[in-house]
Amino acid sequence: MKRIVLIGLISVLAPALGAAAPAFKSLHLEFPPDAAAFPDGPNVKIVNQNCLACHSADMVLDQPLLPRATWAAEVAKMRATYKAPLKDADIPLIVDYLAAIHAPPQ
Ligand code: HEC
Repeated sequence: MKRIVLIGLISVLAPALGAAAPAFKSLHLEFPPDAAAFPDGPNVKIVNQNCLACHSADMVLDQPLLPRATWAAEVAKMRATYKAPLKDADIPLIVDYLAAIHAPPQ
């Protein structure tokens, strides 16, 4: 009894799947181009100089909007964990930039 139901199901679905197949073949995906540099904002030059050596700007920009303290922790992590050669004086400038362009509205 179960087998009959299964065969019935396959014979109903098979033509439907067959008809859907050409749609899969013509599926075309477009991805946004990789951001080569950071969008304009305060201290953007310093950010481009310090944050593109190991990954693209998208690695940063694809994050959710984060509050300033989280960006500060993120930049500290880049230095402590991944050995990004960041100067002490540049860190607050980089955090300012990230908080200006990629933080939730206050
Ligand atoms: C010395 C190399 C290096 C530099 C320079 C660097 N990063 Fe990273 N970053 C990494 C690595 C490694 C990862 C993890 C990549 C992965 O998970 O695939 C990462 C990941 C990230 C992420 C994703 C979240 C996370 O914690 O994994 C963010 C955001 C980020 N970096 C921000 C920055 C910012 C902002 C700067 C500039 C201050 C920066 N990075 C500079 C190495 C670096």
